Amino acid sequence: MSTFSHSPVLVDAVCEALSAPLDVEGSRSSPGILLDLTCGGAGHTRALLRVLQPKTVVAFDRDASALAAARERLQDAPCDVIFVHAPFSEMHRELDAIGIQHVDAILADLGVSSHQLDTGERGFSFRSNGPLDMRMDPSRGQPLSSWLAGLTADALSRVLREFGEEPDARRIASAIVAQQPGDTAELAAVVTEAMSARQRRHLGARIHPATKTFQALRIMVNGELDELDTMLHDAPARLQVGGRLAIISFHSLEDRRVKRAFRSLCENPALPHGVPIPDQERPKAPFRIAKTFRKGRMATDEERASNPRSRSARLRVLERVEA
Ligand SMILES: C[S@@+](CC[C@H](N)C(=O)[O-])C[C@H]1O[C@@H](n2cnc3c(N)ncnc32)[C@H](O)[C@@H]1O
Repeated sequence: MSTFSHSPVLVDAVCEALSAPLDVEGSRSSPGILLDLTCGGAGHTRALLRVLQPKTVVAFDRDASALAAARERLQDAPCDVIFVHAPFSEMHRELDAIGIQHVDAILADLGVSSHQLDTGERGFSFRSNGPLDMRMDPSRGQPLSSWLAGLTADALSRVLREFGEEPDARRIASAIVAQQPGDTAELAAVVTEAMSARQRRHLGARIHPATKTFQALRIMVNGELDELDTMLHDAPARLQVGGRLAIISFHSLEDRRVKRAFRSLCENPALPHGVPIPDQERPKAPFRIAKTFRKGRMATDEERASNPRSRSARLRVLERVEA
């Protein structure tokens, strides 16, 4: 039995988002295909199987060990499950390869799983020691150690500021480049030592001083924002009329992108000023924000208390209303 451990966030809201009937013409009948772009330990997938009863599930993850756990957990799924070991930026190629054009429901639960964070050897953690790796897919790309060997203090400082919003980016980057830590414990120690006393006081006892630095480095190593931008461009085009795309983000860098992309997809195409076309005949955007998810959905106090990962989670939902 797999030891993969991860508590999915906002499960009820995701189920509500992807199963709610649409009040548009040509609305969804029973969802035929569910596309889970970040299957992880299949917590969301299993909940969605119960409420959506899809005919087919396509489960992506760029982490082969997550897919192995998902395969075990979905072995008695009452439908076809197709596992895809690839980043979701490759969804067009992968869906074309299996002959799927459009799907009814898409979920992306961004970032890393608790399992990845808690497995020291993966190199994501400042709590349990491991190699400087941080790749979600260790079979592709460069581990963190190679990145750190090649970056100047200036470049690293920009990464920490832009991907981690780290106020002490410059001091921390200079210390990392000068000391070249050899594992995650050493990296966490270098960051803690380099941080200003003021910033350490500001974080208090509950937040580890290396939190933002580790987030920034992980985003860099995995190209997470490029991945997200590509997905925001590609996923809406794969939705059936009546279909929905649900995205859970965990920090403002992600959420800002999701919000902007959704807003721009929902804007009606502009016509030159004075074109004599009555309002009801003007071209309409094929997408809109799902009605009960206008501001996005956050975890309840109860969920925040029982699952700390949910504290920063925000779910946004887009629906396709026209072809
Ligand atoms: C927060 S976890 C998802 C947990 C899952 N929803 C569950 O209920 O167990 C995120 C998962 O997405 C995967 N992932 C992150 N970015 C990805 C990407 N660009 N392409 C494919 N998988 C990705 C990670 O490897 C991780 O397993």
